Parts: sequence; structure tokens; C-alpha cells
Amino acid sequence: MAKYKIAWLPGDGIGRDVLDAAKIVLDKLKLDAEYIHGDVGWEFWCKEGDPLPQRTIDLLKNVNAALFGAITSKPTKQAEEELIPELKGKGLVYRSPIVRMRQLFDLYICLRPCKAYAGNPLNYKENIDLVVFRENTEDLYAGVEFHPVPEELSRLLGSLSKNFESFKNLQSNEFAISCKINTRRGSEKIIRAAFEYARKNKRKKVTIIHKANVVRLTDGLFLETAREIAKEYPDIQFDEANVDAIMMWLLKNPHNYDVLVAPNLYGDIVSDLCAQMVGGLGFGCSGNIGEKLAVFEPTHGSAPKYAGMYKVNPIATILAAKMMIEWLGEKELADRLERAVAEVIKEGKVKTYDMGGNASTLDMAKAIAEKL
Ligand code: NAI
Ligand code: MG
Repeated sequence: MAKYKIAWLPGDGIGRDVLDAAKIVLDKLKLDAEYIHGDVGWEFWCKEGDPLPQRTIDLLKNVNAALFGAITSKPTKQAEEELIPELKGKGLVYRSPIVRMRQLFDLYICLRPCKAYAGNPLNYKENIDLVVFRENTEDLYAGVEFHPVPEELSRLLGSLSKNFESFKNLQSNEFAISCKINTRRGSEKIIRAAFEYARKNKRKKVTIIHKANVVRLTDGLFLETAREIAKEYPDIQFDEANVDAIMMWLLKNPHNYDVLVAPNLYGDIVSDLCAQMVGGLGFGCSGNIGEKLAVFEPTHGSAPKYAGMYKVNPIATILAAKMMIEWLGEKELADRLERAVAEVIKEGKVKTYDMGGNASTLDMAKAIAEKL
């Protein structure tokens, strides 16, 4: 029996292309794993009314980790007109499978390392090496939203908050409310994870991202929690930054930062900026990590126009596979894989279209596999 069980979730579009590429590399690396296919994505939403069928959820309960490609979540015009009214008529609502996995399995860490590999023509600056810890289950992504706004909610808010005055006479369908929910426990978990990572990986500094001067209570709780936890890690420098300011500072001086930790929405935004500085969608990898399960993925979507063409860059997915291997505890294999990726990038002989070359998805994977 293989040492690890890994759920293999290609999803839609180029998700399949890039997972085929990752498989070439994993096979060459001889990771002692069994890969078990799981159905996920737009196809299953159309066929079965569920983009994350129960059988896939059951599979995820019985694996060590998962590698996920990408899913299509924006309806085409035809689907919008024909299919969606039919599914909606049956009371079915599309929910992002990745968001659902995060909630079902409490994958509270979204980890996004952003490293500028030497020789990558898409690097914004050389030697960028940032790691973003984004809280993955709460904040403005809690999914507690109202439109139209129920009258009882409006009345309650009117009686509880002075700031609600200017909204309270609006018609229920003329405004929408989204709840930003931040818990002390959730904040603590992600902040602690960032500090632990920093310590384990000999990182110097953790920067907490917030907007507590305006969003006083929710971000305030996050910041307060961070300050408390920071005291337990005197060996690591602690730094605070407003989310708007850090977007400017990151662009100006990315080398001043190391590990960044943020609530869900700010983390989502900051991690895209960081990914772009080290090559963009073809290089952005991420891990959705919980206590029992972790799902690794490239951050790009299904890019329908390139689906099945084996044209896109698989490095993001191969780096996600590297993160997975590391998370499984196979640090040596993970390091070997990263060195192979770095070597191919540095040589600059094999480049996909985004890097200015014409190598295919599988050419890139084979070039990396050859270095292993
Ligand atoms: P996308 O990320 O799929 O692609 C946008 C463009 O970026 C592509 O057309 C391509 O030019 C480039 N690109 C993407 N991945 C690349 C790669 N590996 N190498 C080189 N170039 C790459 O975003 P888009 O087009 O906005 O969304 C397509 C579908 O994917 C939508 O249904 C969207 O909702 C979904 N999506 C899914 C995500 C996920 O599965 N995690 C994340 C983002 C979008
Ligand atoms: Mg994003």
C-alpha cells in the first residue's frame, strides 16, 4: 500500500492540463502515493446540480491531501439563459466548491508563498521572497449577506447603531448588507500559524495587515490578537501595516517584507499582488490548510480559451505539488522538486507562452522532471 493517499481533482478547463503536467513530475519524483480521482467543477453542477458531489466530499475525508486544478465558476451566456433558470427552479444554487471545501474541512490557512526564481523574465524585481498567510474561512467571506435586507434586520440595526441612521429609511431591495465576521479563535489560529511558520523556516519578520483605524472592531480584534500572540515569539520581529499603505510599500520595497498575515479579504488582495510580482498566474501557488486535510492548487482559474491545448504554464501547479509534498512531511523531496523548477527557470531554455517562449505545458513538466 502506498504511504499517502492523494485526492486528484483536475476540475475544469486547463485544470486538467496542469494536473497532467504535475503527474509527470510526481511520477519522476517517485512520491510513494496513490492518486484517486475526484469529480469536481462546472460539469457536475450542470449534470448533477452540485459542483462538489457528496462522493468527492467522502473521498476528501479519506485522503492525506488533495491536488486541485481549477474550476469554471462564471456561467457562459448559454448556461445563464438556459441551464441556470432550470437549476434555480429546482432550488439549486451554485456554490464555489473550493469555498465549500474550505468550510467543510476547516481549511483555515490559505498559504501563498511568492518567490522570484532567478531568471524568470516575469519577475518584477529580483530576490523577492514573500509568504502570505490569509485567513480562509471568515471575515467578509463568511457568506452572511442580505439582499433584499429583511425588515427585522433593518429595525434591529437601527436600534443598535447610530451609524445605521443614514440607511434605515431605504427600501429593502435598495441596499445590501454583508457581515464581516471575525472571531478571536479564527484570528488566533491564522496568526499563530504565521509565527510558527516563521520560526520553523527561519524567517525574520511577521507583518500583520489590517485597517483597524477605520474598521475598528473586527480588524481591531484581529490586531489585538496579533499583538498578544507576537509576545510569545520574541525571536521574530513583529510589524503592523494598514492594508492600503502596504500595497504601496510592497510595490516600492518588497524586500522589506517577509511573512505577511491578514484577514480573508485583505489577504486575497495582497496575495494576488505578491503573486504578480513573481510572475503572475503561471507561478501563483497556494495551499488551503487545516488540521486534518490540505488542498493545494494553482491560484489561476480554468482559462476556458486554452482548455485542452496544453499551452499554459504548469509551474504554479508544480509548485503547489511541492507545497503538498512538504506538508506531507517529505521535505527532502520537496526541496529537490523546487531546485528542479528553479534550475529550469534559470536556464531559460524551456519557456511557456507567458514567459515569452513556445514550450507546451507538458514540455515544461518534462524539462522539470529531467532535472530531478
Ligand atoms: P483565469 O485565471 O482562468 O485565466 C485568465 C487568463 O490568465 C487566461 O486566459 C490566461 O491568459 C492566463 N492564465 C491563467 N492561467 C495561466 C497559466 N497557468 N499560464 C499562463 N497563463 C495563464 O481567469 P478567468 O479567465 O477570469 O476565469 C476563468 C474561469 O475560472 C471563470 O469561470 C472563473 O470563475 C474561474 N476561476 C477559478 C479559480 C479557481 O479554480 N481557483 C480562480 C479564478 C477564476
Ligand atoms: Mg483571489
